[in-house]
Amino acid sequence: PVLVVDFGAQYAQLIARRVREASVYSEIVPHTITADEVRAKNPVGIVLSGGPSSVYEAGAPSLDPGILELGVPTLGICYGFQVMAQQLGGTVAQTGHREYGSTAVTALTDDGNVLLGGQPSAQIVWMSHGDSVSIAPEGFDVLASTATTPVAAFANDEQGFYGVQWHPEVKHSEYGQDVLSNFLHKAADIPADWNPGNVIAEQVERIRAQVGSARVISALSGGVDSAVSTALVQEAVGDQLTAVFVDHGLLRQGEREQVQQDYVAATGVRLITVDAADIFLDALAGVTDPEEKRKIIGREFIRAFEQAERDLIAEAAADGEPIKFLVQGTLYPDVVESGGGTGTANIKSHHNVGGLPEDLQFELVEPLRTLFKDEVRAIGRELGLPEPIVARQPFPGPGLGIRIVGEVTRDRLDLLREADAIVRAELTAAGLDAAIWQCPVVLLADVRSVGVQGDGRTYGHPIVLRPVSSEDAMTADWTRVPYDVLAKISNRITNEVKDVNRVVLDVTSKPPGTIEWE
Ligand code: XMP
Repeated sequence: PVLVVDFGAQYAQLIARRVREASVYSEIVPHTITADEVRAKNPVGIVLSGGPSSVYEAGAPSLDPGILELGVPTLGICYGFQVMAQQLGGTVAQTGHREYGSTAVTALTDDGNVLLGGQPSAQIVWMSHGDSVSIAPEGFDVLASTATTPVAAFANDEQGFYGVQWHPEVKHSEYGQDVLSNFLHKAADIPADWNPGNVIAEQVERIRAQVGSARVISALSGGVDSAVSTALVQEAVGDQLTAVFVDHGLLRQGEREQVQQDYVAATGVRLITVDAADIFLDALAGVTDPEEKRKIIGREFIRAFEQAERDLIAEAAADGEPIKFLVQGTLYPDVVESGGGTGTANIKSHHNVGGLPEDLQFELVEPLRTLFKDEVRAIGRELGLPEPIVARQPFPGPGLGIRIVGEVTRDRLDLLREADAIVRAELTAAGLDAAIWQCPVVLLADVRSVGVQGDGRTYGHPIVLRPVSSEDAMTADWTRVPYDVLAKISNRITNEVKDVNRVVLDVTSKPPGTIEWE
């Protein structure tokens, strides 16, 4: 792999993704990694990430100096560039010239050096630094500078050391991907042969080795992660797998059919559907408090799953092969964020459904542990999963139960399902799916307002549209959906959905608003 050494902040994940976009497999490691641990991973390249610190600060994250003696081609970025400069005998100084945001850099050599080769001599890059490299280490060529930073990029071809002060992983750096690609393919001579497709073959092998002849169960929610992880296990040990789908009655229009028909047709998985809508709705009767709703839904989900589990355990015992494994759709960001990048720290279990029992007696099968979301989607497509599942935007485990402000009832769910289907259809038709992270559609069941339809007075409920744009759901902004699209949605909902006489738009960012209303 290419190892991305994490010096903090969020840069490392972005770098790891960009390296993979260049068709090279990457892994994130903490900056505390030792030279021996690096050697054991047998890397073909190393990228030192940016980070929030100053190399001067007491306790500033450092790097085992032995890592730069392993003979592995290394690219330093921002803070990583400065760490590299300092360790190799250059000078890092507080020049008093900070650079933030878009900055022009000019190449100092016109001979097409390896790192900046094929790029114009002046380019716009994304900077974010207070300190600067004032003198490059001996034996290094200075490749580029800015108005205030004399050493903005350097190289030592002989030793395979490269560095840039700017952030090539950020889209605002015009030729950032070219810089990374030049480092990987030209400087380090790494072939571009990694892609999500060959992950399938590798994971299938691994799953077979892990599972042996034991039985496996999987909780299928209809979301991307559980769909793709289940499909991989199906590909590997299909005869031993049973998927459990709990229909809690809080799904959107078409989602049950997508799983029961389309997904099963595409994968051939053995699926058990637990029809639990009545149980969930009875348990939710009279409840209006959001936290209480979530607790009830989580609890009932576990009950429903455990019931299916007991039946399956009994069946498995009869046939002699016990159930030993549970499939989980844990993704790489979850692993990294819970300190699992080192492969040793404890991993938070990822609940992408309504929450699974805490005391599960199963070992986990997690075939997506090394992957990012976009890679998971690519694998899903490669496995032939239906596009509505592969492209599905995030949808919360508690489903429409937390999108009805007020008590959850069958009638209200039906109404919300209709409105939600219209919104999804119109946003897709307007080509807005890529611009929108997700668009909760919320029914304000406890609010009524006066309206007029035909020649009659109405006293109906408002529907809230909450389209948001986001990178990771931690922060979000409301999406500027064109007025004509909003007009069409409003028009259709008020005409087609009974008891709704008003459509309103939520124009709150996150923070202060959360994405969901409850
Ligand atoms: P909030 O509302 O906290 O949502 O801004 C952030 C993201 O998480 C989703 N979400 C959930 N997902 N179970 C889930 O699986 C939940 O209980 C849950 N609550 C919120 C939400 O849709 C958004 O993508």
